[in-house]
Amino acid sequence: MPRPTRVALLITLPLVLVSFYFFYSIELHVLLPTLTDASTRHRVVTGLSSILAGKYRAVHHSLHEYDHYTTEPYTGDRQAFTRHIVAVGDLHGDLPNAKRVLKFSGVTDAYGNWTGDVDFFVQTGDIIDRGDDTIALFFLMDRLRAQAHAVGGTVLSHLGNHEWMNAIGDWRYVYPTEIKTFGSIAARQKMISTGRIGRSWAGNYTTASRLPLHPSIGPPNTPYPPKSMKLHYHKQSDDLAIHHYYDHDKPLSHSALSFVHGGLSPTYKGLTPFPTKINQLSESLLQKLQHRVQPPPHPPNSYPGLPVGTTPEEAALYDANGPLWYRGWAMDSEKKVCAQVDKVLAQTGTRRMIMGHTPDFKNIVARCNGKIIIIDTGISHAYGGVLSALSIHYTLTPIGDDSDQRWIEKEVVSAIYADRQEVLIRDTREVVGDFSL
Ligand SMILES: *[C@@H]1O[C@H](CO)[C@@H](O)[C@H](O)[C@H]1NC(C)=O
Ligand SMILES: *[C@@H]1O[C@H](CO)[C@@H](O)[C@H](O)[C@H]1NC(C)=O
Repeated sequence: MPRPTRVALLITLPLVLVSFYFFYSIELHVLLPTLTDASTRHRVVTGLSSILAGKYRAVHHSLHEYDHYTTEPYTGDRQAFTRHIVAVGDLHGDLPNAKRVLKFSGVTDAYGNWTGDVDFFVQTGDIIDRGDDTIALFFLMDRLRAQAHAVGGTVLSHLGNHEWMNAIGDWRYVYPTEIKTFGSIAARQKMISTGRIGRSWAGNYTTASRLPLHPSIGPPNTPYPPKSMKLHYHKQSDDLAIHHYYDHDKPLSHSALSFVHGGLSPTYKGLTPFPTKINQLSESLLQKLQHRVQPPPHPPNSYPGLPVGTTPEEAALYDANGPLWYRGWAMDSEKKVCAQVDKVLAQTGTRRMIMGHTPDFKNIVARCNGKIIIIDTGISHAYGGVLSALSIHYTLTPIGDDSDQRWIEKEVVSAIYADRQEVLIRDTREVVGDFSL
């Protein structure tokens, strides 16, 4: 390079930099404030100050971005989709507390009737034992199920280890005063086997469930992974391969939740197809229990055990590592559970596992960034824990041009208590695909 050129460069470079900074300042301090509204300005300023404070995190950045997207005016033809799910844990014989929870979580109105504001109400089992209101609670669940059904809502009920204990004849946690509400031991045995409550367990309750967040991946309890290409897909004209919805890399393939009473152990053998395998075993074992000659209850009689003819797989369903009793997700260290959880989520085609069984008397517990949620807070007076419900608001909002099929998928998971609400997880992402209904 000749000498004069190098000199010229040394002079012009600082000039370029200074003028660049000059225009940048004008844009920042003069143009930006006049071009944008107050909330954008606020975002820019807080964004810049967090960068300066070293607090800048990618996740916040993207959330701001998405909030920005969803406030963009949208003029296409696609409809936004919303789904509201409320889940409640162990109720243990306490009707007044159950009614309070149903009311403050928006499932029921002031008269105790289904409001219609919730699309799915999920109860994770252990309605029976430790209280007197067994009959009233199971009847309440059936009434809500019917009211929900009439307006397109769904009640998903689960059997907990205590329902199973009672079906087995293990009545260690039955209050003597509760037996009186049935009239006699024999009347109680009949009611929970072939009588009204027992029939509802067999017909309306499962041991596990898989609840999709969006209907394009099927109705509740569609087996995962799917066996057949014939999924109950709502859109008639759809000819996309099933893999479109279940491929691990596809955006909504794992937009589903699992519910179970105890927990889905990583070493439990019957995880797939999910929840079909578990529920088939549950159905066949319950059938054997309800249709045997009801054994005299334990105590004072000896523990009756599982019926003659119980298969090893059915026995495993009810053992300590099975979905009714497993406590690992609640009790093991953060490091251990977070290392194990992804594999179970992948096997069950879900994003979060929600369970009861192991109470925390103060609050709902979310672990591993909400991949594990434990909703037993000891609601019954037998425990005196806090009254709680889990609420999930899922939305899929169209953005951009319809031809691009871009959507913002958003999930807000909150714990609702009698006097407050706490957002546990706010998950937002952009997804691309044909999710129109
Ligand atoms: C609540 O539902 C019951 C039926 O279960 C009905 O008789 C009653 O009128 C309803 N109450 C109100 C206020 O809607
Ligand atoms: C299941 O629940 C519905 C709705 O409450 C009820 O009408 C029905 O009798 C229940 N099924 C059985 C088998 O009890």
